[in-house]
Amino acid sequence: MHPAALVACGGLVWAAKSIAEQRKRNPRGLPLPPGPRGLPVLGNLFQLPQAEQWKVYQEWSKQYGDMVYLEAMGQPILILGTLDRTEDLMEKHATMYSDRPTLPVGQFIDLSNSFAMMNYGPEWRHDRRVFHQYLNHNAVVQYHPIMEQEAVNLLRRLTENPENFRDHVRFTLGSIIMRVSYGFDDVETNKRLVTDAEALVSSFTEAIVPGRYLFNSFPSLGLLPDWFPGADFKQRFRDLDKMNRHMLSSPFEATQNNLKEGVRSAYPNMATDLIDKLQDDNTPSWIGSETVARNVCGLAYLTGADTTVSSAWALVFALAANPEAQKAAQEEIDRVVGNDRLPQLSDREHLPYVAAVVKETSRWHSVVPLGLSRASAEDSEYNGYSIPKGTYIMMNTWAFMHDPEVFENPMEFRPERYLKDGEFNPNVLDPEVAAFGYGRRICPGRHLSNDAIFLLAASLLAVFDITPPKDESGKPVKLEFRPSSDVVS
Ligand code: HEM
Repeated sequence: MHPAALVACGGLVWAAKSIAEQRKRNPRGLPLPPGPRGLPVLGNLFQLPQAEQWKVYQEWSKQYGDMVYLEAMGQPILILGTLDRTEDLMEKHATMYSDRPTLPVGQFIDLSNSFAMMNYGPEWRHDRRVFHQYLNHNAVVQYHPIMEQEAVNLLRRLTENPENFRDHVRFTLGSIIMRVSYGFDDVETNKRLVTDAEALVSSFTEAIVPGRYLFNSFPSLGLLPDWFPGADFKQRFRDLDKMNRHMLSSPFEATQNNLKEGVRSAYPNMATDLIDKLQDDNTPSWIGSETVARNVCGLAYLTGADTTVSSAWALVFALAANPEAQKAAQEEIDRVVGNDRLPQLSDREHLPYVAAVVKETSRWHSVVPLGLSRASAEDSEYNGYSIPKGTYIMMNTWAFMHDPEVFENPMEFRPERYLKDGEFNPNVLDPEVAAFGYGRRICPGRHLSNDAIFLLAASLLAVFDITPPKDESGKPVKLEFRPSSDVVS
């Protein structure tokens, strides 16, 4: 046979195979959801926005509808543009759309120990249940004394050195999470732990951010031999894996050793309770193994630190930029708490305006503006469309929280929007419906976060006036809000 005929035959066989495959995956031949037209092979790769993506996606949703379909180098991506659509997929069709994307770095870094990265299923459910046991609404009350002590430490540090407020806030929130996880009460141990964990979080964030490593767009580069020029990223990822394993084992083992020597934290914490229960002859079956206990303790910092810090920095910015809101909150604290003690978490129900400041912060600045991506578990049909297996699903939380139909003047910071006659108005949408994610995977650390941020807000407002910095001529600098475009903004 002539070579051209051979190629033509080969082409026909390939086309027939791929049509058959397509039919199997999409038997009713349903269309994909609409979206901007892309290039062959590359798809929409060069149309994917790099900064404040949520604003571009909001525009696309207006143009194409509440499901916008994109493809980047063959990877399908679905952007959900309304809260109703998101709730429908994440709650009513939870079993299909609650997996996590498979990250290319998983070739080098063992992510199987973190239920935040696991696919939906029995193992995820089991580990999440252990975590929830220590961080549910009622359980976090036991950590209030830790938070109140750390809030006082923060006020001291800020009095001495207010310029470094970002570092102080980061360290305070990190210490709260570490003490809740492992129960080390001394400042130096926590400082070391927070520093190590921060290095891990920032290297990890860098490792997964699209564009930083070519490998994320072309995972097959992971097959290059180590000596190949440019393949040094492989060693960097392996080092990161080592760091991750160390973070999971070292503080947990230190708590185990302390307990053996009779050194016990004065405050309740996850590791101590889990170790006690594992040693008990009647270990409750919900715990499972020591490995689960280690993994669950190690996850709190990795998931909880950057997120709460982002929220706290936005809070400080919003107060500095909105002196009237700040004054109203301070007046409430003066009236309810007085001047001879600091606010405590038990004051919250009598401080609705301060609580509204915290709520408004979570709406006004979306900490996770596109949610934490999900993936579809199988090829599926939804609302007349075909959704391929493994599609990354993003939820435009920022757009839901800045919808002028739902929140009047959404770019303005207005805590009073939630209040009516001094109480929460049930007719106003609570930002909690979106700020912490959706459905069965909703953030299990939200109660800890809400309590810590409330206390931080009340403590800062009770003691300080928060004002913009001054320029060289002594005039206040005009503040400009510039959120970063990372997964955690
Ligand atoms: C302002 C603070 C926080 C925000 C805005 C936030 C937001 C989120 C979001 C959007 C998700 C994804 C949920 C989904 O898939 O729909 C998530 C998941 C998660 N968060 Fe948070 N979070 C915060 C604080 C915390 C804290 C303090 C902890 C731990 C103590 C924590 C632990 C987790 C974990 C373990 C997951 C994974 C849940 C799963 O995959 O089942 N978060 N968070």
